[in-house]
Amino acid sequence: MASGNAATASLAGRRILLGITGSIAAYKAAMLCRLLKTAGAEVRVVMTPLAKQFITPLTMATLSKNPILVEFFDPENGAWNSHVSLGEWADCYLIAPATANTLAKMATGVADNLLLTTYLSARCPVVVAPAMDLDMYAHPATQQNLRTLAKRGVRIVEPAEGELASGLTGKGRMAEPDAIAAFVGDLLTEKKKTLAGRRLIVTAGATIEAIDPVRFISNHSSGKMGYAIAGELAARGAEVTLISGRTALPVPPGVERVDVLSAEEMYNAAVRAFERADGAVMCAAVADYTPAEVSDTKLKKGDGELFIRLRRTRDIAAELGARKGGRLLVGFALETDDEEAHAESKLERKNFDFIVLNSLRDAGAGFRGDTNKVTLIDRTGREALPLLSKREVAARIADRIEAFFAR
Ligand code: C5P
Repeated sequence: MASGNAATASLAGRRILLGITGSIAAYKAAMLCRLLKTAGAEVRVVMTPLAKQFITPLTMATLSKNPILVEFFDPENGAWNSHVSLGEWADCYLIAPATANTLAKMATGVADNLLLTTYLSARCPVVVAPAMDLDMYAHPATQQNLRTLAKRGVRIVEPAEGELASGLTGKGRMAEPDAIAAFVGDLLTEKKKTLAGRRLIVTAGATIEAIDPVRFISNHSSGKMGYAIAGELAARGAEVTLISGRTALPVPPGVERVDVLSAEEMYNAAVRAFERADGAVMCAAVADYTPAEVSDTKLKKGDGELFIRLRRTRDIAAELGARKGGRLLVGFALETDDEEAHAESKLERKNFDFIVLNSLRDAGAGFRGDTNKVTLIDRTGREALPLLSKREVAARIADRIEAFFAR
């Protein structure tokens, strides 16, 4: 098992070296440290000199229950803070937040503070959680540095989109502490690569159907469930192509993402990828209707009513179902009434191997949230799962997928 509590459970007894750099997101390092400690990890903290301006060593020392390391020498007594032994001590070196400056120095091997010398000597897995303004993050120099680091094996917890300290909104906000802790937990979990050699597609998120250059029709799907599934399948060794509508979610580690907007684009991407796949999980909330004509110019408002004629989109799942042969196909159903009967009819109609039913009637299920309550239905029966995190639901779905391939 690889997710949720299982991921953080794997932090128990592990040694995490937490590196903090000079970003406003350093305040989140306090919560991150607490989460790691609560999960049973031993935490030591190394800070850059500038990081001390954002969060005090006293706070971090109290939370980590260890003295904070900043300088090469203790100025009081001359004791040497060995970056080599710190790097050897750690099971994981987690730099969160990681500024553009520190990432650039890591990529080029600059070693002008203890945090960086420790990076150069660390033999353990290194994880960075970038935090910066959107333009700094998008800058080709930063992107190049991240690619360089990724090629050298540094794992990157992608920043999220959202409001930034500058007041701007965009990508660059450090991932939330619980996501970072789970990422590290996952990394330290020795996962059995039970799906190694399998090529799987996951569709996720909402599609966007243009009305004119400005407006569109879409739905509330956040993509969280599909992203959790893609991450889980990749963690179990599958080669995963995530065909994704627009979301603000980071790409899970090891997953290849193909971005699409409309149902038609998703159809084309899915049909193409399915040619060489062993299976697909259809988690996307695909529009059933799209405007029959898309205006090239912005529709002007008039006094009366406006009618937009819609035409049906193609059903991607049904198309893959018709082509699948002995391959795996998993569907989702979101129902508001007569749930099981509707889901069972989709199981047959779209030729799914099993279908995951969410009911909008259940509290904590469905769109946007981090939890879900689902029933797994196949031709042999129904399994109603309790309310679980989407990561745990993803793990249960992945268990079923493993069982399918083990037949
Ligand atoms: O018929 P309904 O939309 O409720 O079916 C839901 C299932 O079918 C989901 O797995 C969804 O991803 C998939 N689907 C699709 N293409 C469509 C509509 C739904 O793949 N055009």
